[in-house]
Amino acid sequence: MAADTTDTNGLLPMVVDAVSYRAGDQALIDHVSFRLEDSRRTVILGPNGAGKSVLLRLCHGLLAPSAGAITWGGSTPAATMKRRGLVFQRPVMLRRSVAANIEHVLKTQGIGRDRRRGLVSAALDQAGLKSLAHRQARTLSGGEQQRLAIARAWLLEPAVVLLDEPTANLDPGATRAVEELIIRLGATGAKILMTTHDIAQARRLAEEVMFLHHGRLLEHRPAVEFFAGPRDPDAADFIAGQLIN
Ligand SMILES: Nc1ncnc2c1ncn2[C@@H]1O[C@H](COP(=O)(O)OP(=O)(O)OP(=O)(O)O)[C@@H](O)[C@H]1O
Ligand SMILES: [Mg+2]
Repeated sequence: MAADTTDTNGLLPMVVDAVSYRAGDQALIDHVSFRLEDSRRTVILGPNGAGKSVLLRLCHGLLAPSAGAITWGGSTPAATMKRRGLVFQRPVMLRRSVAANIEHVLKTQGIGRDRRRGLVSAALDQAGLKSLAHRQARTLSGGEQQRLAIARAWLLEPAVVLLDEPTANLDPGATRAVEELIIRLGATGAKILMTTHDIAQARRLAEEVMFLHHGRLLEHRPAVEFFAGPRDPDAADFIAGQLIN
């Protein structure tokens, strides 16, 4: 969790060069190119089915492009995977206590028992989960599980954290708690790259917006500019709250 050890320098710029991902004859990601240069919070925004999750998995190296190339600081996604954290929409918890879920991450890092205790406690505090330390993780609410997932990712001091719809299905209070945690994580210097279909969330969190629709990247601009007036007509309709197809 030490903020000063986070270093995005080695992983940025991240370059996506003419990437497509096909399933059958359908291009789920269609000739997408972009660069991420700095540690601003980047939000991939788009309607359901736009290809946001597929793009995030391509970026992390969980899927391989059908065409094009992705590099993080010049290296492949696979070679740099360990320096990134990934938080899924529905996090997978070990069938153990909340504290044990956190401790497991530290064990896999070979961190000794004495140091683990302090780090577990700090992580629980960070995520606002101290009072739930001994609960079975799988009995946590969706919002609590999501905070635990972020805390677990944070422990590995990732240079970049990818989050796929981290607040889908959460109520406003739980959403706010998760968003605050994401902002704090980003403030340590970690690059945040997240997806959402929630325009209000993108307004709250994005410093840079990538608007994705039908697998195509239609806009990639600073959030202030994007929300002041999208250039793409579908993006304009989408942020005006209209259905787009
Ligand atoms: N392995 C696959 N084979 C075929 N089609 C797929 C595959 N994975 C995803 N798709 C399709 O690709 C499209 C994009 O899916 P994706 O999950 O990336 O969308 P999304 O933008 O994340 O949507 P949501 O907001 O609902 O999460 C969808 O139409 C989906 O059904
Ligand atoms: Mg998705």
